[in-house]
Amino acid sequence: MDDANRYPAEQRDAVYRVLAERRDVRRGFVPDPVPADVLRRILTAAHQAPSVGLSQPWDFIVITDRARRERVAALARRHRDEFAAALPAARARAFDRLKIESILDTPVNIVVSCDRTRGGRHTLGRHAQPRTAEFSSVLAVANLWLAARAEGLGVGWVSFFDERELAAELGLPEHLEVIAYLCVGYVTDFAPEPELATAGWARRRPVSWAVHAEEYGRRGLPGEEPVDPLAEVIAAIGPPDEAAMAAARERQDRMTKPRGSLGQLEEVSVRLAGLAGCCPPPLPEPACVAVFAADHGVHAQGVSPWPQEVTAQMVANFLAGGAVVNSFAAQVGAEVTVVDIGVAAELESAGGLLPRKIAPGTADFTEGPAMSRGQALAALTAGIEIARDLVAAGNRCLITGDMGIANTTTSAALICAFTGADPAEATGRGTGIDAATYARKIGVICRGLARHRPDPSDPVGVIAAFGGFEHGALAGFMLGAAGLRTPVILDGVIAGAAALAAAALAPDAIAACFAGHRSSEPGHAIALNHLGLRPLVDLGLRLGEGTGALLALPLVQSAARALRDVATFDSAGVTDKL
Ligand SMILES: Cc1cc2nc3c(=O)[nH]c(=O)nc-3n(C[C@H](O)[C@H](O)[C@H](O)COP(=O)(O)O)c2cc1C
Repeated sequence: MDDANRYPAEQRDAVYRVLAERRDVRRGFVPDPVPADVLRRILTAAHQAPSVGLSQPWDFIVITDRARRERVAALARRHRDEFAAALPAARARAFDRLKIESILDTPVNIVVSCDRTRGGRHTLGRHAQPRTAEFSSVLAVANLWLAARAEGLGVGWVSFFDERELAAELGLPEHLEVIAYLCVGYVTDFAPEPELATAGWARRRPVSWAVHAEEYGRRGLPGEEPVDPLAEVIAAIGPPDEAAMAAARERQDRMTKPRGSLGQLEEVSVRLAGLAGCCPPPLPEPACVAVFAADHGVHAQGVSPWPQEVTAQMVANFLAGGAVVNSFAAQVGAEVTVVDIGVAAELESAGGLLPRKIAPGTADFTEGPAMSRGQALAALTAGIEIARDLVAAGNRCLITGDMGIANTTTSAALICAFTGADPAEATGRGTGIDAATYARKIGVICRGLARHRPDPSDPVGVIAAFGGFEHGALAGFMLGAAGLRTPVILDGVIAGAAALAAAALAPDAIAACFAGHRSSEPGHAIALNHLGLRPLVDLGLRLGEGTGALLALPLVQSAARALRDVATFDSAGVTDKL
């Protein structure tokens, strides 16, 4: 290796240091002005950024005028309020504590713009990818941000604007676009971590999740073997922490209430402590329900009175906020994410929809396997990654939801495959079916079982045999949550069937699972018994979508809060029972 071009160690360290210590700063600004020569240096650094075809599409508008900054701050405030109003309760509370701009606290604001027409028609590279103009301006921002850090200047990026409104306020010509609004000033200190991470709003993803070898999906750092996310997550799942559970039990006994008087909630609090590895465990909020939607080939056997199109129609309803899951989520303060893991229709992209389609529906399991092994693994992996991403986004409780016409048939088949239950006992009436359809449904499951002769010790094979994609993804979702020691509240029979697969892959994953409710589908009780999980709510619900689990969310949260907040006999000076 030729060291000739390498910087000396000290200079290299300085480069890595500035990268590691650059912070988005919103607090601790001091009013001292920024000298013109320092501003010139950081603007020159910005101007040295790479740009597509050397088009240099940026301009920098340096703002110090107080009246203008006040008008800009008013624009940002309006957007802050609009954003806050759209948040679920726990998120709104956390957001309220965050500072998102320092427009008036800093002496200088710098706007970086982009002129995507600069350089004319034949700008190298931009002809194929027009967005490279904006990418180039972003690199100018990065240069400025890093140079500012080296100068001891804090920079905070504000994006709470309607871009055209801001452009008008700044007198930008029509063909220029605002890329960044930066608040710049000297600070008392630089935080060691992103403020959003310290505040628990979001977490850093490990670098190994972001690096892929040769093609997307083969994750791992250079010099290391690519990691199979399923193997990795299974390896990460461990048993509950006995010491934390003992501490929680002991604390429950010292809390100012008769011993055991919180019934099942005491056990929930103990399990939460065991999962978190500490007592008291963190409150399971914010929470997010992920509704995994998919279609099922076995629908062709006439097992449901509902046409298959209803799956896609209900996805649209979830996204529009019109389903029961949306109203329950709003009531308990949870976010709703919808996952297209295999809907048999093209879905338009929409906010809140994760497009993760494995295939447009499974095959009919009475005629062959519902999916390939590769597809089953892809569904599991998608679920793992969604759980990881939702936890990285700051969620501390995940909730399972599902939508898929005919998925109670698939669930019953999975439950029979994993528990050995008799299809006549595990099969329910789903959304409501007549006697003839019910008999047909049982027959379909018997045929499937006879055809595939499932081996419960091969959970991937069982998922592949019967489906659905949502079951595979839900099992992955539970494993992903368990690997991050984050509680996951299970909804009804579909989640129960998926949990059997998760438990077969990693028995300790069940330590992260809380049975939200018991559905009226008979297979659900069989699954819960097999898993040793006790449901929190029993209201005869049979809707799915995540509704039963959402109702249990306040119970799980209350169990954690009581363990954390309730005084003990000694601390409150209350006399214990003799
Ligand atoms: C494109 C972009 C827009 C951002 N907009 C805002 C914003 O409106 N308000 C805010 O407080 N932070 C904003 N940030 C800052 C990020 O939240 C911050 O970079 C992130 O939390 C990581 O922290 P760090 O920059 O200190 O490493 C923005 C960052 C980027 C890259």
